[in-house]
Amino acid sequence: MITIALAKGRLLKTALNRLKNAGVEISAPANRALLVADSTNQFQAIFIKDQDVPLYVEYGIADVGICGKDNIWENGADVYELLDLNFGTCKMVVAGKQSVEAYKAAQFLKVGTKYPKIATEFFMINAVPIELIKLTGSVELGAVLGLSDVIVDIVKTGQTLAENNLHILEEIAPISARLIVNRASFALKREVIESLSRRLKNASHH
Ligand code: PRP
Repeated sequence: MITIALAKGRLLKTALNRLKNAGVEISAPANRALLVADSTNQFQAIFIKDQDVPLYVEYGIADVGICGKDNIWENGADVYELLDLNFGTCKMVVAGKQSVEAYKAAQFLKVGTKYPKIATEFFMINAVPIELIKLTGSVELGAVLGLSDVIVDIVKTGQTLAENNLHILEEIAPISARLIVNRASFALKREVIESLSRRLKNASHH
């Protein structure tokens, strides 16, 4: 049996749809069930917080997982990233209310973010000293109220930024849902995992 870790957030509906098109029919969990088997009993899904999916896969609790690149990256989990599923597409950006010129000229930035690792790495590579302000939500508000100079966050439609009079200052990387695989599982169950990956890839063209 293959255990699939699924992020409970926004990606879940599309992830279940893709799996269905790939021949793995799993219904969304009733009430607060955390574990659901598919109709063939070859697969079971566990439903967990988006941020935790990479760790469940790294530690082998799940053989594979579907979650956003942002969480894989932020976790730094030691897993194989087998497939870009091309949904949940958005961008990791630096945003703020200042001009791009002022941002580029800044000698020091207070950075508000839910992604401390991504933000730290990005500004380190760019040799900009920062003070990191780790937030858990409403990151935009921090920038509006002056808690931080800029934010590092994901942008989908851009609506949240626009509503808060913020704009993109720099793009860090494109983000989308990925299929990740535990290293030992990939060695031991390679055939069935590769077959699942192939079917998921084809399912994305439907
Ligand atoms: C994300 C992100 C932004 C928003 C961007 O948060 O942190 O706030 O979506 O989307 P937009 O560009 O389409 O407006 P999300 O709503 O996923 O939840 P969270 O803030 O609770 O993490």
